[in-house]
Amino acid sequence: MPELPPTRWALEGARTSGYGTRFAELIERGEDVDGEARLADAMVPRGARILDAGSGMGRVGAYLLARGHRVLAAEPDPVLVAQSRRTYPDLRVVPAEILALDAATLRAAGGPDELDLVVCVGNVLPFVAEGTEADVLRRLGELLAPGGRILVGFHLTGGPASARSYSPAEFLADVAAAGLLVQHRFGGYDLRPVDDQYAVWVLARA
Ligand SMILES: C[S@@+](CC[C@H](N)C(=O)[O-])C[C@H]1O[C@@H](n2cnc3c(N)ncnc32)[C@H](O)[C@@H]1O
Repeated sequence: MPELPPTRWALEGARTSGYGTRFAELIERGEDVDGEARLADAMVPRGARILDAGSGMGRVGAYLLARGHRVLAAEPDPVLVAQSRRTYPDLRVVPAEILALDAATLRAAGGPDELDLVVCVGNVLPFVAEGTEADVLRRLGELLAPGGRILVGFHLTGGPASARSYSPAEFLADVAAAGLLVQHRFGGYDLRPVDDQYAVWVLARA
């Protein structure tokens, strides 16, 4: 495979390094960091095959694993892979980015080779490498089992300063280019109405 371009997350380096510490502190204080995962859990039958794509420090994948799903996480940042493995030793993490994933990679990592749900939340898409958004979405779609879906969420305003701004119109163009369609859009993981602050999307293959 040709070398992949660096993600915005990797290029931002120091500006993104507070994420892991912040979530460790929130969890230590007993704060609720499971909103994304509760919605994901409601979307699938018990024992579902799930990929946490861009899993960061592992909070979403770990929640879903604890509910009995078959979960694989994929995360390219080595510092976050290490934090995830320390914090959630039972969560399998493939140290790779989305464009490097295929059925064989998932199988080799001990995961399911097709998926009922891909979770790609917490501003992963605004941090992928410049110009790869549609390719990333297409790759996630290719990993779905028949009837499988993708849960995406990112800030429209007020997100991390180091992330790109990603408008709904740009996102929808990338979704269509990736051969996907939108089943639902919400303003948050609590299914609040659509707003201009945050977008939660449920995608499926067109
Ligand atoms: C703000 S963090 C969110 C992590 C996690 N999803 C969460 O909600 O806690 C954004 C993550 O996107 C990941 N990321 C960026 N581009 C990626 C790509 N192409 N493939 C996989 N992960 C990627 C980064 O490495 C980083 O862990």
